Amino acid sequence: MNVGLKTPIMPAGVAAVAAAVQGLSQGGLVAFPTETVYGLGADASNARAIARLYQAKGRPAFNPLIAHVVDLEAAVRLARFDATAIALARAFWPGPLTLVLPKSENCPVADLATAGLDTLAIRVPAHAVARDILRAFGGAIVAPSANLSGHVSPTTAAHVQSDLAGRIDLIVDGGPVEVGVESSIVGCLDTPVLLRPGGVPRADLERALGRALQLPPDLHEGSLPRAPGMLASHYAPRTPVRLHAADIDSGEALLAFGPAAVPGVDKAAMVLNLSARGDLTEAAAHLFGYLRTLDAAGARVIAVMPVPEHGLGEAINDRLRRAAVDRHQDKSKSKRQR
Ligand code: TXA
Ligand code: MG
Repeated sequence: MNVGLKTPIMPAGVAAVAAAVQGLSQGGLVAFPTETVYGLGADASNARAIARLYQAKGRPAFNPLIAHVVDLEAAVRLARFDATAIALARAFWPGPLTLVLPKSENCPVADLATAGLDTLAIRVPAHAVARDILRAFGGAIVAPSANLSGHVSPTTAAHVQSDLAGRIDLIVDGGPVEVGVESSIVGCLDTPVLLRPGGVPRADLERALGRALQLPPDLHEGSLPRAPGMLASHYAPRTPVRLHAADIDSGEALLAFGPAAVPGVDKAAMVLNLSARGDLTEAAAHLFGYLRTLDAAGARVIAVMPVPEHGLGEAINDRLRRAAVDRHQDKSKSKRQR
């Protein structure tokens, strides 16, 4: 495919789905909306397309990709589902849940997509545009979030454009996404493990399982990352981020949450409130877009008010902690991990 300086953006619809499928079939890279964040899609069976995808994102090749399929029937052809995995799939698919499972023997997903692991991450997205593309394409589509590696995930087509224009073949614009944080990732290998908090709150997952979810064991030096969280600054804006802000210094930008006023807010360079009424679902939908806007405001620091840890708050706080990690420290750490 011809990648020009400007990547075309097509509004979601019949023509965009046809163009997306044609692009994917030819090994192209197509960004499309899912209910969580925009994904950058490539044919999961096409190693050359996947190599281009890693290159376009500037992504370390050890970070494996999620295979998206249209339904459970398609998913069971790619990986082995135990009773736990079936229960979670029935409860939350289509939706913002990714399962990590043992790859099936004749799994058509290219080894490059799984970074050489013998497990595969699979998700059945709920977004109508993603589903139309998956249905028309027929096969699995690998799709990381459609941002440059290390940037915050895109929740609008304009975010995708600002990171990836000229590097990919097509952007399908389905408007702003609904959930706003990436899928929850549950590893179903022996005991179910929450590898990444995300769009399905932990309490909902645990209710469906009838048991508590374990947290991932700590990484040893030199082992492969299991989820993006292992690269601590995965979701970082360029402006330093200060968490648990109880007051604001002049020149700081404020990411607020809830109705309470913060002392010094009149001195803030810019203020955005994730949800003035303290609604965590609304806050998740605003999170990445507001981080981008505050990052572009040229403030010294982005100060962030505390966000409660329940419901989608666990995923929101996880992304905020990563946004606050010192980049230099993280680089030396991720080098050691390689
Ligand atoms: O909501 C989402 O999950 C979005 C949309 C586009 O579907 N996708 C997304 O993909 O967030 P990505 O690539 O940005 O993050 C998925 C993470 C990878 O970074 C990787 O660490 C983890 O899933 N992952 C993939 N395969 C894995 C595996 N076999 N074992 C453990 N973790 C895996
Ligand atoms: Mg990502």
